[in-house]
Amino acid sequence: MLKRTHTCGELRVEHVGQEAIVSGWVANWRDHGGLAFIDLRDRTGIVQVVFRPESDAELHRRARDLRSEFCISVRGMVEKRPPDMPNPDLATGQVEVAARELQVHSASETPPFDVDETGEISMEVRLRNRFLDLRRPQMQRNLEFRHRLLQTTRRYLDESGFIEVETPFLTKSTPEGARDYLVPSRVNPGKFYALPQSPQLFKQLLMIGGLERYFQIVKCFRDEDLRANRQPEFTQIDVEMSFADEEDVLAMTEGLMARCFQELLGRPLELPLPRMTYDEAMASYGTDAPDLRFGLGIRDVSDIARECQFRVFSGAVAEGGQVRGICVPAGAEMPRSQVDGLVEWVKQFGVGGLAWFKLREGKAEGGVAKFFSDAEVGAIRQRFAAQDGSLLLLVADRRYLCNLTLSHLRLRLARELGLLAGAGDALCWVVEPPAFERDEVTGELTFVHHPFTSPAEEDVDRLESDPTSVRARAYDLVMNGQEIAGGSIRISDYDLQMRILKMLGHTEEQVEQRFGFFMRALRYGPPPHGGIAFGFDRVVMTLLGIEDMREVIAFPKTQRAVSLLTGAPSEVDEAQLRELGISLSEQ
Ligand code: AMO
Ligand code: AMP
Repeated sequence: MLKRTHTCGELRVEHVGQEAIVSGWVANWRDHGGLAFIDLRDRTGIVQVVFRPESDAELHRRARDLRSEFCISVRGMVEKRPPDMPNPDLATGQVEVAARELQVHSASETPPFDVDETGEISMEVRLRNRFLDLRRPQMQRNLEFRHRLLQTTRRYLDESGFIEVETPFLTKSTPEGARDYLVPSRVNPGKFYALPQSPQLFKQLLMIGGLERYFQIVKCFRDEDLRANRQPEFTQIDVEMSFADEEDVLAMTEGLMARCFQELLGRPLELPLPRMTYDEAMASYGTDAPDLRFGLGIRDVSDIARECQFRVFSGAVAEGGQVRGICVPAGAEMPRSQVDGLVEWVKQFGVGGLAWFKLREGKAEGGVAKFFSDAEVGAIRQRFAAQDGSLLLLVADRRYLCNLTLSHLRLRLARELGLLAGAGDALCWVVEPPAFERDEVTGELTFVHHPFTSPAEEDVDRLESDPTSVRARAYDLVMNGQEIAGGSIRISDYDLQMRILKMLGHTEEQVEQRFGFFMRALRYGPPPHGGIAFGFDRVVMTLLGIEDMREVIAFPKTQRAVSLLTGAPSEVDEAQLRELGISLSEQ
């Protein structure tokens, strides 16, 4: 085999006159009169190889049979390209390799897409042929970035005294709010393991076990509704610390982020990161993961709208709802069709519509302007600190729907108005979320983070009487509108843990059956502890400014949790099922 001496991407004018052996895939082939050219691609880049009939007719003939994605090695001389031939788009564009020897390692069928095509290729075709898609420079850059981020993270945590410990995948359910993936046990018929939704209980056991500082780069498995930023299996940077409170965990996390910014993006991250309470985030941005790269803050005008002539507004407030909205500076210039488009678009969130008016010369104009007195317009204007030329967009509905609609509307406006272009990264902590909430549909009490999160000390006496007013000692790190990490200070008191699990509707027997191992450990001197977990895939995509998580995972699944490459999940043999003691009901 011809052994590579140089990578394709490294060849420069300084190599001219040297012999080089380069290996890779045929990116492009052209037959120019007598000359045959190929572009040869490896992980580092592309270099042009030229085959001249006059220097070796047989070699030239073989080169003319090369096609896209053939895997080859070439031995040749590095030459400077003729004066009018350099390719400014290639780092190697000043030179070419004049071939002396060719080794074809393997041929390729005609690929279903052009690997070097920079335009849109359907995600389905890409995922089905991921082995080819991975050859694309973009995918290679993303995966290399991911790799470097992992190395930086490992180094930082190691230097900070954290010990990497692996925890089991074949385990019991860990409640993180999704459904479990179950694995049947052949040797224990009728019994199942659950794949971990996170290593939550194990990392707490490691603290009880005296490890003091743990981390793990670990797969988590969650059967939940998938979106662009969710995969059924994803990677966490999971961290836990003993004898630590919020400040310790936040400082450690900020240090890690700053290191990643410096080493990966080559710029500093200003610390400490800003903090916002959960209540502030919901009030001003309608979501607990606010995108702070732009303004368009939400304001509440329910008090002003209560008495107004617009029945949609006064009616909503009378029924306990709210009127909240967004002021778009200079939005009065927005064409009517664009405003109408927004009004239609918000209906998908379940609200009746979007009320609007423009401010011109101190007066309200257009839309629902006619329903408002001068005094009301003045008050609304003041609430938004709105200038002439603004567009006001208002929604009246239940608080939950106002939040849902306005948080999405903010993002859509930011895109339409081009507010994201050139905006710097915006990181912030969202702290003091509620510990519990009621399910919108069933009214059942559930945890917001997970049931091992410590409630705020001052709120503990309201646990039973007013649970939804209890705040959690939890924190989320948000970057550019993505929740990239979340964690909490844990309960390290047996009685309080039992009290909370019971509050959440578990009987003592259920606690014993589901979490018995953990409850027992809490009786043997647990240290105060807390931690956090990064959604690593999200960190990678956010730092790269990518919106689809599948661009940063080598072998991702679709929104239906299917691997288009392998075909998983798939049916299994009858015999395999029998061995597991499983029979399928009619579908
Ligand atoms: P949490 O459930 O908030 O916390 O998860 C931590 C982070 O993981 C990311 N994440 C996901 N990423 C991709 N696909 C998914 N389906 C997905 N679900 C979550 C998010 C999130 O911030 N055990 C706790 C952590 C702790 O308390 O220390 C936990 O798992 O970025
Ligand atoms: P209508 O009187 O139904 O024609 O509505 C007048 C305006 O109010 C339209 O622009 C609707 O989109 C808007 N609208 C309807 N319901 C709501 C609502 N719940 N919140 C805000 N605006 C609404």
